[in-house]
Amino acid sequence: MSLLFSETRLGSLPLQNHLVMSPMTRNRAIGNIPNELMAEYYAQRATAGLIITEGTSSSPNGLGYPRIPGIFSEAQTAGWKSIADAVHAKGAKIFMQFMHTGRIGHALNLPEGARVLAPSAVAAAGEIYTDAEGMKPHPVPQAMTGSELLSTIEEFARAAKNAVAAGFDGIELHSANGYLLEQFLRPNSNQRTDRYGGSTENRARFVLEVADAVIKAIGKEKVGIRLSPFGVFNDMPLYDAMEADYAWLAEQLNVRGLAYIHLVDHSAAGAPPVPDSMKATFRSVFNGTLILSGGYDAGRAESDLASGRCDLIAVGVPFLANPDLIARWKAGAALNAPDARTFYTPGPKGYTDYPLLG
Ligand SMILES: Cc1cc2nc3c(=O)[nH]c(=O)nc-3n(C[C@H](O)[C@H](O)[C@H](O)COP(=O)(O)O)c2cc1C
Repeated sequence: MSLLFSETRLGSLPLQNHLVMSPMTRNRAIGNIPNELMAEYYAQRATAGLIITEGTSSSPNGLGYPRIPGIFSEAQTAGWKSIADAVHAKGAKIFMQFMHTGRIGHALNLPEGARVLAPSAVAAAGEIYTDAEGMKPHPVPQAMTGSELLSTIEEFARAAKNAVAAGFDGIELHSANGYLLEQFLRPNSNQRTDRYGGSTENRARFVLEVADAVIKAIGKEKVGIRLSPFGVFNDMPLYDAMEADYAWLAEQLNVRGLAYIHLVDHSAAGAPPVPDSMKATFRSVFNGTLILSGGYDAGRAESDLASGRCDLIAVGVPFLANPDLIARWKAGAALNAPDARTFYTPGPKGYTDYPLLG
């Protein structure tokens, strides 16, 4: 008997199985507007219980990478509506991931008038790809002013309303992997001396204010959050109080009654492991749905569901390369190999052309 392939619920939302498609940036949104090609890609994968879209920006300032979609304009909202409709027609539910890139961006990638904003004027180590000039060092971002904090929170709330207007079942705040929300949480990127920096509570304030604003806009049952405790991606070094900080955050999120917490663990890809104690803390402190992700195959997914470590399992790369992942896992069939060269390139190659089982 398989738990993975059986029906379940996310709050009151029925899901056709326990498998979630992880959010994956694919850079096919020319002009930052979702399009028909993207609708085809998501519809191909709509045998999942829940699809979480690629990171999508609530603001022109959050479009740090080339060709990533937004959800702040009418054209973007209309484009996303076609995608939600296509996915719903095949039986999956769909949440939109809200990714504001913060300091992980570049002026060359941003629309005119937009700016690279972050908690503090501290550049991330390393480089970022731009279509215009290839790899460039991460820029020194502008530290957000008090009024920019407020306007950015308002942008999140407006975007949440747009996502629901487009027919989405909910939104996921991307507070992981070194983007704006995590930049506030972490002491290396947040060196503010006002109420948004310093103590655990102060560093979490912006994330919680954003969560409160989107909850007010669309309701707590439509809001999830992705977190990467012990994640180091995008120049987010480990620090001593990490586990205590995230345990405190878990409690605060539980009080707010979010639909789910989605934990990232990239240790299968060589990143530092998320200690079992950290995952157990989230499991015991948070009463909502817990999603685990990172390096899952069908066997490990089934085993973590069966042992009650989590409620849903999210899968990224295997879903990217296998639109019919569920059918393949059910049949015990071989999987297509992912082609990393086409993860972020425009057009259908390596996007909508992965073969189905014969
Ligand atoms: C091409 C690609 C794009 C990704 N983009 C995002 C993203 O936009 N938001 C996010 O939270 N994670 C992103 N991730 C991370 C995945 O959601 C997932 O955590 C990771 O692939 C590990 O899970 P897996 O082993 O099942 O692939 C991306 C991963 C890949 C391979």
